[in-house]
Amino acid sequence: MSNRPTSTTDSGIPAPSDEFSLSVGPNGPLLLQDHYLIQKMAHFNRERVPERVVHAKGGGAYGVMRITEDVSQYTKADLFQKGKETELFLRFSTVAGELGSADTARDPRGFAIKFYTEHGNYDIVGNNTPIFFIRDPQKFSDFIHSQKRRADNHLHDNNMQWDFWTLSPESAHQVSFLMTDRGTPKTWRNMHGFGSHTFLWYNAAGEKFWVKYHFKTEQGIENLTDAEAKAIAATDPDHHIRDLHTAIVRGDHPSWTVNVQIMPFEAAADYRFNPFDLTKVWPHVDYPEITIGRFTLNRNPVNYFAEVEQSGFEPSNLVPGVGASPDKMLQGRLFSYPDTHRYRIGANYQQLPVNAPKVPVHSYNRDGSMRFANGGDPVYAPNSLNGPVADPSLYAGEDYHLTGDIVRSAYSRHAEDDDYVQPRALWENVLSGTDRAHMVGNIVAHASAPEVTTDTKKRVVEYWANVHKDLGEGVAKGLGVA
Ligand code: NDP
Ligand code: HEM
Repeated sequence: MSNRPTSTTDSGIPAPSDEFSLSVGPNGPLLLQDHYLIQKMAHFNRERVPERVVHAKGGGAYGVMRITEDVSQYTKADLFQKGKETELFLRFSTVAGELGSADTARDPRGFAIKFYTEHGNYDIVGNNTPIFFIRDPQKFSDFIHSQKRRADNHLHDNNMQWDFWTLSPESAHQVSFLMTDRGTPKTWRNMHGFGSHTFLWYNAAGEKFWVKYHFKTEQGIENLTDAEAKAIAATDPDHHIRDLHTAIVRGDHPSWTVNVQIMPFEAAADYRFNPFDLTKVWPHVDYPEITIGRFTLNRNPVNYFAEVEQSGFEPSNLVPGVGASPDKMLQGRLFSYPDTHRYRIGANYQQLPVNAPKVPVHSYNRDGSMRFANGGDPVYAPNSLNGPVADPSLYAGEDYHLTGDIVRSAYSRHAEDDDYVQPRALWENVLSGTDRAHMVGNIVAHASAPEVTTDTKKRVVEYWANVHKDLGEGVAKGLGVA
């Protein structure tokens, strides 16, 4: 006998054979009583859970964040106190492609962090850009449908994408980022992450602030050109998963600084941009970034399915000291993520090790499919039986006053709100000559796909001319549109 373990069924019963099904004689038909075979086939048929409806392709790693500065005047959240170390899991992803799609596609990259804090899990489910394509969750599924596949022929269709974007001018800032070479990062290690939304911070005295998170790569920004990205997509579609995994294996642990922009609570009302509009940044001249710590990724998952595929992030995981803002996109996402996890992974997804908090759970939620750790009695609150009780004092300070009519409306305009002013600042003040040339080339390559109609191309030119005359002219020339 070798030292190898005996193979078993999932019930731990020794398997009679790894090779041969039970048959009537060597050449006869198979028997239904071969439950080893039946279990193997039936389980295989259930190996896949649905892939994420967006951000399906990705990879992740564990790490730790350390806070180096005192920001207790802004937040009492335990994970942001000076000297604090908090374990985390970070998943990177592309947005539009399916599970087997190429890592180097032109797309924003997901940058989702789960912090295992002393007050339970805090998730910052961000991207590698500080902004987004739309500002109202009403449009999210329509936007995603335009990025996915046609109903008739199941093909991606650049005409759908430009049709949606040009009819949604609030997308211009995010599409500008996407069409620079930052739309094709070299690796996940070479890009920034952003919380993107505005969040609420409140301190122990109940004072409130608005905050934006910026995670700045310490590896430096590096991007691929359009041609490089397409070449890698053809030869190594898993390029980014491979890069992160092998970097960690060789001890080259990637790191990011943790920066914040902090706005006094009252300043939001008349700031020159609506600070809750996800298509806008807060210019640094108004609110400089403050570095408060850094995090490092130092450990690979050992089982991709269990730890990466079944990880579930939710913007609604907010811990005492942080809260939601009135950003309508964030408000929509507070509902959407736990809802999709209950469907995709199952009602008890939070019991899986990657999703489970590192602190005891004393919840009154019970039962459901696959629940293995269940609370005992009492099963209800309030009770007089020594069951867990809520501690509202932990949340003291998160409350604030709002009033208004119930409406369906665009955001109220602030002094400089305009869909093109910030992408114009990017073009005029931030991009180099080479960046601009690549941006024009990338737009032209994308909008030159054969399915893009002449009518759409005209709107594409108009869209970019609204950002900047030179950009519009460059795109018009490239597309051959007057
Ligand atoms: P700043 O000059 O202070 O900041 C410019 C920002 O752009 C920096 O964060 C820079 O950071 C980033 N950046 C540099 N090159 C690129 C690029 N090719 N693509 C995207 N971002 C780039 O100006 P403002 O704060 O006034 O912002 C001006 C414009 O810069 C904004 O309208 C927005 O388009 C863009 N931007 C602003 C950010 C903000 O939070 N204020 C964040 C990111 C972009 P780095 O080089 O480290 O990425
Ligand atoms: C994933 C919905 C906007 C970042 C997802 C998923 C859904 C979703 C349903 C799949 C989750 C899963 O199956 O595990 C929405 C809705 C949005 C929105 C309804 C707007 C109303 C955004 C924005 C960002 C973002 C603005 C970034 C700032 C992500 C990331 C993931 C994700 C990073 C992948 C998380 C992971 O790695 O598991 N989104 N999304 N989304 N979304 Fe959004």
